Amino acid sequence: MAMLPLFLFLVSLCLFNANGACCFEDNNMFNLQLLQKKQQLGTQSCLLPESRIEKGALVLEMKERGHCSEKKIDRKRRLEQLMLDDLHVRSLQNRIRKMVPSHNAEAVKTQVPLVSGINLQTLNYIVTMGLGSQNMTVIIDTGSDLTWVQCEPCMSCYNQEGPVFKPSTSSSYQSVPCNSSTCQSLQLATGNTGGCGNSNTSTCNYVVNYGDGSHTNGELGVEHLRFGGISVSNFVFGCGRNNKGLFGGVSGLMGLGRSYLSLISQTNATFGGVFSYCLPTTEIGTSGSLVMGNESSVFKNVTPIAYTRMVPNPQLSNFYILNLTGIDVGGVALQVPSFGNSGMLIDSGTVISRLPQSVYRALKAEFLKQFSGFPAAPGFSILDTCFNLTGYEEVSIPAISMQFEDNAMLNVDVSGIFYMAKDDASQVCLALSSLSDEYDTAIIGNFQQRNQRVVYDTKQFKVGFAAEPCNFA
Ligand SMILES: *[C@@H]1O[C@H](CO)[C@@H](O)[C@H](O)[C@H]1NC(C)=O
Ligand SMILES: *[C@@H]1O[C@H](CO)[C@@H](O)[C@H](O)[C@H]1NC(C)=O
Ligand SMILES: *[C@@H]1O[C@H](CO)[C@@H](O)[C@H](O)[C@H]1NC(C)=O
Ligand SMILES: *[C@@H]1O[C@H](CO)[C@@H](O)[C@H](O)[C@H]1NC(C)=O
Ligand SMILES: *[C@@H]1O[C@H](CO)[C@@H](O)[C@H](O)[C@H]1NC(C)=O
Ligand SMILES: *[C@@H]1O[C@H](CO)[C@@H](O)[C@H](O)[C@H]1NC(C)=O
Ligand SMILES: *[C@@H]1O[C@H](CO)[C@@H](O)[C@H](O)[C@H]1NC(C)=O
Repeated sequence: MAMLPLFLFLVSLCLFNANGACCFEDNNMFNLQLLQKKQQLGTQSCLLPESRIEKGALVLEMKERGHCSEKKIDRKRRLEQLMLDDLHVRSLQNRIRKMVPSHNAEAVKTQVPLVSGINLQTLNYIVTMGLGSQNMTVIIDTGSDLTWVQCEPCMSCYNQEGPVFKPSTSSSYQSVPCNSSTCQSLQLATGNTGGCGNSNTSTCNYVVNYGDGSHTNGELGVEHLRFGGISVSNFVFGCGRNNKGLFGGVSGLMGLGRSYLSLISQTNATFGGVFSYCLPTTEIGTSGSLVMGNESSVFKNVTPIAYTRMVPNPQLSNFYILNLTGIDVGGVALQVPSFGNSGMLIDSGTVISRLPQSVYRALKAEFLKQFSGFPAAPGFSILDTCFNLTGYEEVSIPAISMQFEDNAMLNVDVSGIFYMAKDDASQVCLALSSLSDEYDTAIIGNFQQRNQRVVYDTKQFKVGFAAEPCNFA
């Protein structure tokens, strides 16, 4: 596979004209140019990554924007975001542990823009959907099923950008009665039984706890959903009256899981249970896409889609689980006894991928062997392999690819290898982490899914990957 030349301008106060100074040496290393500004940055300055397509090359740039002081993600915030990711994964593992007590038609297409939620203080990805006559910005989450938004009148709502959903002003909104089959199947979607009041005509109460103190509860409702160019009537969602959370400034969450009540299962008749996305980097103004339906014609993938089987697990039927069979670091295959027997969950709502401890140890050792001679920097939250690259103009970083059953490869994009703990290059961390318990379920997070077309086919039980530079302006 041909790799794209890439320029990473870490700190540059003016636009650089990239005239072919950097290139790829071979397929196993990314050659990264670090043009570091020596001059001290002013307090108003802020660095934002930017990328563009230039002469067929993906140019990822971190350049200063004078007017972006409000959007600046400071160190405390970056730390907080990884802490949130840790909490998210802990609660996900708790849900999994509860579920696995033993431990061991003609497709209609729609394409909606999808962006990094960094402006709304989240490292998750967001899309805008129309609910009734209102527009709601929600996190896309393949690790859960129920879609919900904050709803008025609100007993307790966190601060969101834009107005909270008002069912009272919508003629198409209806609450779901608690003796309906929809309410009875709520348990399948959330793990909680739908609560009835003291009569059969009362509303259907839902509760979702994310384990870290964040939660949403309220009533189930149906509403007209608009999504890209299409509309779905009688879409069932949670009208959240009591929400506390670590959701940034978004209105709520869109559940893209495999089970009952997920958007995918509710639109199965229309879209055939197939969807895909391309997750861009955090650059402001760039956009990837979420595509409903089996519409490869709109993809901009530059490699063929390689599919791997979804591993059936009746106890975890709402998750997408894949069979990881190998990992290459700089072209070297890791030698470990097992890459995890219970499969690896692919989740758009987790940021940093979590590997089984023994696999992570082997990966880290191989990475350090190949990326040697650079001064170490302290660990950052869940990331324990960090470097101080201050003063380096160019570094070669080993490519990382994950191999799945049926020889499907996920070649991690260069933007998914390092996490920048600071605005400068003094704490650059390998963006992978170890599970805290060897027997927990490994997760492919969204950081490692950047610039890929990821296709979920729930009908043929397979997930596909293809390189796609989705973060162009
Ligand atoms: C919602 O978004 C659609 C599509 O972008 C737009 O046409 C419409 O005006 C928006 N509605 C509101 C109430 O903002
Ligand atoms: C729900 O309860 C109401 C009032 O008791 C009743 O009229 C209705 O038929 C019930 N619906 C179902 C699906 O049982
Ligand atoms: C609700 O309906 C069920 C079955 O239809 C019935 O057994 C129950 O008594 C009803 N509850 C109330 C509070 O009306
Ligand atoms: C969609 O329907 C197919 C059968 O036509 C089924 O196999 C698949 O599991 C469904 N997907 C979802 C997400 O419900
Ligand atoms: C989706 O499209 C691909 C390529 O056109 C095809 O191989 C696959 O069978 C389709 N999947 C479904 C569920 O129709
Ligand atoms: C994963 O794939 C390997 C190699 O094909 C196979 O031996 C193993 O049984 C698979 N694991 C699961 C959980 O299906
Ligand atoms: C990083 O390295 C530079 C150059 O060697 C040094 O001046 C600086 O103090 C280091 N920063 C940290 C946080 O260690």
